[in-house]
Amino acid sequence: MMQESIAALTAEITKAELNNPAELDAFRISYLGRKGRLADLFDQLKTVPNEEKRAVGQQLNALKQQAQARFDEAQQAAEAAADNAPANPDFDYTLPVVPNALGTRHPLSLVREEMLRVFARIGFAVAEGPEIEDDWHNFTALNFPENHPARDMQDTFFVAPPVGSEPGTQPYLLRTHTSTVQVRVMETEPLPIRRVMPGRVFRNEAISARAHMMFHQVEGIFIDEGVSFADLKQTVYYFVQELFGQDINIRFRPSFFPFTEPSAEIDITCLICKGAGCNICKYSGWVEIGGCGMVDPAVLENAKIDSEKYSGYAWGMGIERIAMLKYQIKDLRLFTENDMRFLRQFEAL
Ligand code: DAH
Repeated sequence: MMQESIAALTAEITKAELNNPAELDAFRISYLGRKGRLADLFDQLKTVPNEEKRAVGQQLNALKQQAQARFDEAQQAAEAAADNAPANPDFDYTLPVVPNALGTRHPLSLVREEMLRVFARIGFAVAEGPEIEDDWHNFTALNFPENHPARDMQDTFFVAPPVGSEPGTQPYLLRTHTSTVQVRVMETEPLPIRRVMPGRVFRNEAISARAHMMFHQVEGIFIDEGVSFADLKQTVYYFVQELFGQDINIRFRPSFFPFTEPSAEIDITCLICKGAGCNICKYSGWVEIGGCGMVDPAVLENAKIDSEKYSGYAWGMGIERIAMLKYQIKDLRLFTENDMRFLRQFEAL
């Protein structure tokens, strides 16, 4: 009985086809597996008369080794074949790779960096200050008298003092302009001072195409002995021409800021209509890019600088305004909406 079964199984194992993964699997399960035919015969070993057990056992072990050897050999052959298999003929390996999608730089970053580069060439190094400020740096040191209506020129977000503060503790505020950093550099740095100060500012304004509650400025200040309004004009001419080209017109329009005397607003030819008149320049042909003036002696004194000996000029320009002119962007909200269709139009990283 047993002898016949062994003979039959031997024949089967020798003949079995082992040409593909499915056949290999079927072979392993039906012959080598724990519930396979060989295991079956090993089970039946207990029915074999004692004097034959040894010989039958040896036969079964030999058959098991033979089956395992056939399987191992076929599996190795299959693996080797897979390694050497010809490449998928449907795939053209000479096609160029799909490029990774790169991000782009935000237009405000591009313009800020360009502005800082232009000023760096004439010796202005960058300084920065906090966005949450105190009344002194945003108003008082800049010559805004207490309760003076000039404080209303800029609608301010106040930050309530922490719960439990002494009664009468002054609230902090979100800086309404980067002029705060002028005060900080005047208070701390040795003279002469020549700084540009980029930063984000906040005003309590309704958001529209032309106004936002958060925007960016680049402030500048130069303080030394004998600085005049002519120096200020020259700096502004240089900056505007570097940024927008030689044939742009510039005008200084008399204005008022508490921290400068005299004060002016800087207008340049409207780049959208080239001066012909459009809705961006309200049909005047001019657009304002910032304010400037000679630092008021009272501001110098607030920072403990001798106003008899030193004088200086300062300016503040809006980064959004300059980016709008440069790229012909007609709605301020585009800068903060993160619309990929807008952002992708700028220089790749
Ligand atoms: N801080 C002013 C504003 O936000 C702009 C400005 C005007 C800055 C004149 C200056 C300056 O430094 O001299 O409207």
